[in-house]
Amino acid sequence: MRNVTKDNITDVFKSYMADDMPPRTHEIMSSLVQHLHDFARETKLTHDEWRQGIAFLEGCAAIESEDHHEFVLASDVLGLSSLVDMLHSSPEATSSSVLGPFHVSGAPPLPVGGDMKRGFGGPVLLAEGVIRDTEGKPIAGAEIDIWQTAPNGLYASQDEDQDTYSFHGLMTVGDDGRYAFTTVKPVEYTVPSDGPVGDILRACGRHPWRPSHLHYIVKAPGYRTLVTEVFPDDDPYLDQDTVFGVRDDLVMTYHEKPASEFPEGMVLSGKIEAPFLAVEFDVVLKRE
Ligand code: BEZ
Ligand code: FE
Repeated sequence: MRNVTKDNITDVFKSYMADDMPPRTHEIMSSLVQHLHDFARETKLTHDEWRQGIAFLEGCAAIESEDHHEFVLASDVLGLSSLVDMLHSSPEATSSSVLGPFHVSGAPPLPVGGDMKRGFGGPVLLAEGVIRDTEGKPIAGAEIDIWQTAPNGLYASQDEDQDTYSFHGLMTVGDDGRYAFTTVKPVEYTVPSDGPVGDILRACGRHPWRPSHLHYIVKAPGYRTLVTEVFPDDDPYLDQDTVFGVRDDLVMTYHEKPASEFPEGMVLSGKIEAPFLAVEFDVVLKRE
């Protein structure tokens, strides 16, 4: 096409694509360019604004590394990561939620009843529940990979003062599907905001806070792997999570209990002297 105009450029783009390209790639590229062009037409995007957009992408690329994923963070705060999650989440299973960039693979085994709090200060939280299938039957041998921040709001991978696997554990459940561990009550924290994503947040008048949460990746052979989070129902940031990760079924009450009600069979049994918090959160996995 020689006479490309602002009105026909989208169709011209589509006409340049090969007829024999994979249909899904064709669908995605057509739709992406349609929305991109419509966005520029609708907003009458100026050269300066276009340059700012390019500078944002270059800024993300400049600080991207094995330990820092600014593009994923951009997707998170724009709501794209959560939207993709929700598009593929099954209504019969526990909702999925963002993975985030701070999971460290290869966590050491944590026995059922184990403790992740160790010497750290702060309120003891007992987290327990059953991993079930969609018919309510426990899934024997399911594996649950758990991680969270330390009381200073930092993940082990962000904090030189923590061991590599501090507040990370990998638990394999028994025939009853039951998991249980003690930890310190997670705290709310901010996502990194010292790069281009922070500039976007500030430009939109937004804060970088996430409500406190525990992260789980739950796996069992023959089931769809679930990446999810558990939030306490009294967190001040529940209704304004900067990465849009909160779902109704992931919000649980942390009940305060007297030390005398701390259960037997845990690593901390007999060692709890003050009231503790307890949360019960069952996880439902869908068959593959
Ligand atoms: C997190 O929960 O660890 C997280 C999620 C998205 C962006 C940053 C952190
Ligand atoms: Fe997190």
